[in-house]
Amino acid sequence: MTKLLEVRRLCMDFGGLRALDQINLEVNSAEIVALIGPNGAGKSTFFNCITGIYRATGGDIFFTSAHGKKKRLNRLKPNKITQAGMARTFQNIRLFTEMTVLENIMIGRHCRTKSGILGAVFQGKSNRIEEKQVVDFSYEVLTEVGLEEQVNELAGNLSYGAQRRLEIGRALATEPDLILLDEPAAGMNLQETGELNELIMKIRSRDHAILLIEHDMKLVMSLSDRIYVMDYGKKIAEGQPADIRQNPQVIKAYLGEEFELT
Ligand SMILES: Nc1ncnc2c1ncn2[C@@H]1O[C@H](COP(=O)(O)OP(=O)(O)OP(=O)(O)O)[C@@H](O)[C@H]1O
Ligand SMILES: [Mg+2]
Repeated sequence: MTKLLEVRRLCMDFGGLRALDQINLEVNSAEIVALIGPNGAGKSTFFNCITGIYRATGGDIFFTSAHGKKKRLNRLKPNKITQAGMARTFQNIRLFTEMTVLENIMIGRHCRTKSGILGAVFQGKSNRIEEKQVVDFSYEVLTEVGLEEQVNELAGNLSYGAQRRLEIGRALATEPDLILLDEPAAGMNLQETGELNELIMKIRSRDHAILLIEHDMKLVMSLSDRIYVMDYGKKIAEGQPADIRQNPQVIKAYLGEEFELT
């Protein structure tokens, strides 16, 4: 078992607000780990710091890709972090709504090509061969996330659940060792959530580790190998689902929330 992600004493201050206070967290290869906590606990801020969207004000982020050696990710730009092997989705879906489903996936894929997006525009022969590989690979990913019949639809015309799956596909297209999902079930109906559960299991079976922020406790409890719980920027608990469910501090943090830990 490889330790993929190792976060040490991560801090993030927004002016006087300490959104992350000395957070330690690890994800091992092929693990599904959940990061939960009430609204405003700091979960998305944690993702934003480890993916280079925000620059953490303290602490260290180490990542060891499946083939690589241990790398310190502090201060790296988001595209470099994706190249290192960590990809993500966003709490508020971020797609190119005026582009097709296929094009959205291809953009994700170009982080793994030599010619990049410009090469796809100014096409030489080697670029054309590479471009064909990008298209073929993108079709594979679209099949994986169940969007093979909507390849030429505009992303903005997809149902909400399908847009979330497309975002997961775009992350998968970068061939990540670790994929970070920020509330993938938000706004989904029961059937879509069931399909998402299956998709996450399938992703793990292909040797991707998953770090999942989610408020749907049923999904969290059924999928996770381990769970970290945050409240007001601090980690208040970590452990296996059965332990977290009964942890008094966790129950207290969730008092007054609309969801249950059962
Ligand atoms: N860019 C920012 N500037 C200032 N404060 C911020 C910024 N981003 C987040 N915060 C604050 O940091 C705290 C943590 O927010 P964050 O979005 O990480 O919470 P969360 O756990 O993801 O909550 P939710 O479950 O509602 O998505 C909140 O108090 C929020 O207002
Ligand atoms: Mg959030």
